[in-house]
Amino acid sequence: MAQGKVEDVYRANCASCHGAEMEGGSGGALADGVWKHGAADAEIANAISQGVPEAGMPAFGQSLSPELIRALVVYIHEKEKAFDQSGKTSTPKLPAGPVQTKYATHIVEPVVTGGLETPWALAFLPDGRKLVTEKPGRLRILDENWKLEPKPVAGTPAVVVSNQGGLLDVAPTPDFEQSGWIYLSYSAPSPGDAKSSMTKISRGQIAGNKWTDEETIFEADPKHYTKSGVHFGSRIVFDRGHVFFSIGERGDKDKAQDIGLPNGKIYRLLPDGKIPADNPFADRKDALAAVWSYGHRNPQGLVVDPRDHAIYETEHGPRGGDEFNRIRKGANYGWPVVCFGMNYNGTPLTALTENEGIEPPLHHWTPSIGTCGLAFYNGDKFPEWKNDFFVGGLRGSLHRLRVVYGKVTEDEVVLQGAGRVRDVHCGPDGFLYVVLNNPDMIVRLVPEGAESGGEK
Ligand code: HEC
Repeated sequence: MAQGKVEDVYRANCASCHGAEMEGGSGGALADGVWKHGAADAEIANAISQGVPEAGMPAFGQSLSPELIRALVVYIHEKEKAFDQSGKTSTPKLPAGPVQTKYATHIVEPVVTGGLETPWALAFLPDGRKLVTEKPGRLRILDENWKLEPKPVAGTPAVVVSNQGGLLDVAPTPDFEQSGWIYLSYSAPSPGDAKSSMTKISRGQIAGNKWTDEETIFEADPKHYTKSGVHFGSRIVFDRGHVFFSIGERGDKDKAQDIGLPNGKIYRLLPDGKIPADNPFADRKDALAAVWSYGHRNPQGLVVDPRDHAIYETEHGPRGGDEFNRIRKGANYGWPVVCFGMNYNGTPLTALTENEGIEPPLHHWTPSIGTCGLAFYNGDKFPEWKNDFFVGGLRGSLHRLRVVYGKVTEDEVVLQGAGRVRDVHCGPDGFLYVVLNNPDMIVRLVPEGAESGGEK
């Protein structure tokens, strides 16, 4: 299928994961001279044609000719050489001055620029401290002035760090001041095999700098643990006495349609992990009673609209078809039967972009933006953005969505090229906080004119 110039083939098939300049993304850098699967031409060609399916590298041997795969190897070497000479490929940069958007002009202020490795999620505590997860398995505390506690919290759960797996979301309960509970999601090792993993949700407390009183809120049966390193999902939100969280399909797409399997679902539980009696499948023998909705691929954004308590979600599509959904009780979101995207290697996935009984997305992105992190803006610093949604993209963009009567009426990029957007939150101070990877930092959007001493 894919013909023509190697640059175009690369851009169409590879750039979404390896970066436009091969600087790396969800797939590693190809231009940095570091080869996990061998540096020889034949080994690179083999990685491209066979893929590394369990790590999320698709096989291209069916869709690209041997000649094109050879051309890609040559093209990778050219980029490698350029990388050697410059010492680096294109570096993401924070905007130097004010960024003018449709309704507001903002300054991007760095708040944490060092000391964090692949920060994944940010949470605000009522006393002004913040919690940050680092994917390699550390929970960090920042004080009210964003100063990083040098030591990670001791005794947090063991995680399997491979590809997309690690310590993922962190969320204190709305009644944290009384209860002290903090929820974590992570790729937990299988009891029988330390290399297999599955998304697990635990809660615990922080005493001093220690993780204590840990309790399991949700874990899958050990038979569902897998060596796959992709699609953990894992965002956690709370609403009116319930905890909601997402688990991706772990790279096994058909499982998302089976309500008896843990893959590709959004869950709803009581805070202690018990099943609410009014869950949609609570009485079905063939279902996991914790399931709230199904047919999800890799949901890495979840938020509650505080006005009507509706749950909104973003999920990664395959190649194209990233989605923004309003989550309804018991609904099927279609993956992999209905989707706007196609397979990574360019082969078709499905002809259906809609179907009976399938909840359509409110909005979708093709090409993919790599949706990760979702916030609802209810602060007072950007009055024009009140009640808008902010969607992070791992390809380096932050989108503002306006939803009017259940329809997305605006999709505006308000930040671009600063790094991979991993998480986004409206802070208690009304500024918009963005967690970036590559470079690893936390920044905030501040209205122009409010930047000096504007934190009050
Ligand atoms: C869906 C994301 C994705 C796409 C699309 C993708 N890759 Fe990959 N690729 C990965 C991941 C993830 C790895 C790392 C595998 C591992 O860690 O074992 C990888 C690994 C590789 C490797 C081996 C690197 C090494 O260190 O040995 C090569 C070569 C490679 N990719 C080339 C390509 C080319 C060329 C394309 C396009 C034709 C492509 N990839 C498309 C995700 C992707």
